[in-house]
Amino acid sequence: MARLVVVSNRVPVPKTRGAQAGGLAVALKEVLTPGAIWFGWSGRISADTSPVPAQVEARGVTYATLDLSKADYERFYVGFANSALWPLFHFRPSLVRFRREDYVGYREVNRTLAEALAKLLTPGDIVWVHDYHLIPLARYLREAGIQNRIGFFLHIPFAPPSVLQTLPPVGELLADLCQYDLVGFQTREHARDFRDSCERLLAARVDGDRIAFGGRVTRAEAHPIGIDAEPFERDAIRASRSADTQRLAESLHGRALAIGVDRLDYSKGLPNRFDAYARLLGQYPEHLQKVSFLQIAARSREDVVAYRELARELDRLAGDMNGRFAEFDWTPLRYITRAAPRRTLAGFYRMARVGVVTPLHDGMNLVAKEFVAAQDSKDPGVLVLSHFAGAAEELTEALLVNPYDPDQIADAMHRALTMKLDERRERHAALRAKVFSTTAERYAKLFLGSLRNGDGASSSAASPVGAALRKLAQTDWLNVEPQPARRRTR
Ligand code: G6P
Repeated sequence: MARLVVVSNRVPVPKTRGAQAGGLAVALKEVLTPGAIWFGWSGRISADTSPVPAQVEARGVTYATLDLSKADYERFYVGFANSALWPLFHFRPSLVRFRREDYVGYREVNRTLAEALAKLLTPGDIVWVHDYHLIPLARYLREAGIQNRIGFFLHIPFAPPSVLQTLPPVGELLADLCQYDLVGFQTREHARDFRDSCERLLAARVDGDRIAFGGRVTRAEAHPIGIDAEPFERDAIRASRSADTQRLAESLHGRALAIGVDRLDYSKGLPNRFDAYARLLGQYPEHLQKVSFLQIAARSREDVVAYRELARELDRLAGDMNGRFAEFDWTPLRYITRAAPRRTLAGFYRMARVGVVTPLHDGMNLVAKEFVAAQDSKDPGVLVLSHFAGAAEELTEALLVNPYDPDQIADAMHRALTMKLDERRERHAALRAKVFSTTAERYAKLFLGSLRNGDGASSSAASPVGAALRKLAQTDWLNVEPQPARRRTR
């Protein structure tokens, strides 16, 4: 069996601070067998970076990581990845802050990572690269002579060509993606947007799932990510008897619990959600003092200006709302900006009558799936879900809402809070069947199966591409040549 090499910006090195099982670690659990390598950034900024990865072994898996310099962190992570690509792919071009120096830094870090990774690879390895931080990685691996199968999975949404073309180096980034053998997306819509973008902005030849460009053929497919539904359900049952869940239950004094759990990110639609909750209380006064909303919004990317601004806005909105509706013995909104352990959340979800997942735009949103898995089938809570979360493509029995319309969210919350048991059970049974069948394990195995068994056309330069296309492959987008990787001294 070929060795699996996973590459992601963050690497969950066991026994390090903050190494909580994120969505990706959960998704890869079953395929990360002994011998596998997980490679990427250590999460550390260092004045003394080394080009040789630090390695830690746990359960036969090698975690190999590099530190970033402060300048690389600023340009690669804060700059291009999170101030340009993130807002662009989340349909917020007005928040995009594009700077040439950030883009050059982004490419430099990708080149440095690729050069270090190339030294760890052996010919049969299957390489699986994750997320928007690492789009150019395959190009630099190919330049380093790596012919292995390389797959890429985008965890966040992909934008249509009309939005994408606002980013100056879009042609170069699309051409980079065409260096992979397989490019995976959360939804069919994102895969279609990618193919359309290649066709329109790169003049690539598209035939079904296949995209021919620059002498290679890459495939674009939808591979919706899932969760470890059974263990998560077991955790929820166990956690529902935990001290934390009991404390939460006692504090509610019989009131219904509505819950939202997100990173504190502008894509999550939190201001609209707070507004919606205020409208629920204003327009349906029967819920006054009868419901408590727990919003956990873990602070995130605080070095990016837009996140700091959002944090301030939410502090103000939460204060306004509680000032307006609270009674001396009831706080309508409980707002926490610290992360909570996944197991604790499992117990909280199980207790909640309503799960509110209303992002303005989201690749998948695993909270939606976790909320479903955690419910008690005999007396389940109701999921209110944004149309614009990738999860909505599958979870059609949720109460689907347009997150830009706070009144619609308020109406859906009212409907959830007053829904009869039969309807709750019926909706939950349908949702549960989906969450328990499109699991994390299935996602990882299907993606890897497709990457391994693809037709191999990519390496054999099978498709005839015209001279004009070849020229485009070397897009000289702004005459800005990525700088050669700087020599790092110890
Ligand atoms: C999203 C992205 C991940 C990222 C995570 C946390 O889920 O798709 O790639 O790791 O957010 O963001 P952070 O910037 O803290 O890594």
